Amino acid sequence: MKKRLFSGIQPTGLLHIGNYFGAIKNWIKLQEEYSGLFCIVDYHAITISYEPKKMPQRILDLAGDYLACGLDPKKSIIFVQSAVAEHTELAWILSTITSLGDLKRMTQFKEKSKQNTENVNAGLFNYPVLMAADILLYKAQVVPVGDDQRQHVELTREIARCFNKKFGETFPSPKSLLTKGSRLMSLTDPTKKMSKSYGPESYIALSDSKETIYRKLSTAMTDPARKRKTDPGTPEKCNLYTLHQLVSDKKDLDYVVEGCTQAKIGCLECKKLLAENIFKELKPIQERRKKLKEKEIKKTLLEGAKRAKEIASQTMREVKKNMGLS
Ligand code: AMP
Ligand code: TRP
Repeated sequence: MKKRLFSGIQPTGLLHIGNYFGAIKNWIKLQEEYSGLFCIVDYHAITISYEPKKMPQRILDLAGDYLACGLDPKKSIIFVQSAVAEHTELAWILSTITSLGDLKRMTQFKEKSKQNTENVNAGLFNYPVLMAADILLYKAQVVPVGDDQRQHVELTREIARCFNKKFGETFPSPKSLLTKGSRLMSLTDPTKKMSKSYGPESYIALSDSKETIYRKLSTAMTDPARKRKTDPGTPEKCNLYTLHQLVSDKKDLDYVVEGCTQAKIGCLECKKLLAENIFKELKPIQERRKKLKEKEIKKTLLEGAKRAKEIASQTMREVKKNMGLS
């Protein structure tokens, strides 16, 4: 039997290339080898303030993006978290064996509670418990995510270990799977992670046109030590070289490294090539996205929820039995 894989993204707006190179591109490859569940985690998204009227469209848009990027409903289960009630049921159970100290240590909670001072709710604090429930409900062994989610997967392992010790062997120990692009940095401040929170100029959206990509790159920070065009650069210190490594072939990489270190080409030329190569990767996704019909997306989600629910209800029966519950 194939090993099981689980991952998810919150429907909080546009996807950026950090989400793509950090997670989704890897999902597409892994869906061949694993039995995958790819979730739209709307219950996670409501832990920060949002507009209820916009949520249904955001969910459909994210599902459409999953399909356009190459997730295949014939190979994987694609579904919405709130359509499978067992996620929150298991989250409650797991919250009773999760240590408060562990939750207080979570970097994402500390960051998000600083960013949303007007709404630091208990759901935001319990966010990693719901994430552990997502993963354990399907007994997933692997969790492909970006670097920022590694700590949450570690906590999931700890929760699984604790449950198994108290109530008998029930859950496998899940591992995170990271890619080379697991931590892309912001275009406007390379000391920070690329994220929607720093505004549209700081990231490249999957839906950006070639012109927009070039415009964003042309003002992006490069190697801070390179002050003049005639100075030689150091690609390994340059945020944009990291992106080149994800999208450019060997010929282009050699050209950029030689041109930059010997000051034969300027940053603008390097950025133009980068814009072209990023767009080459995004163009087929954008074309597939345009062709997708909403009806088709809704059907995929309905079918996905049905298949997810079958696995989820089986796990819940086992969990309750092991715990002496009804
Ligand atoms: P989010 O948009 O926070 O729900 O993230 C969705 C997925 O993208 C998660 O697996 C994140 O770890 C990943 N991700 C988010 N930002 C980045 C980034 N800057 N670089 C790489 N991966 C990222
Ligand atoms: N917390 C993840 C993020 O912010 C999203 C997520 C929720 C997730 N549940 C998950 C990722 C389970 C992997 C597995 O990106």
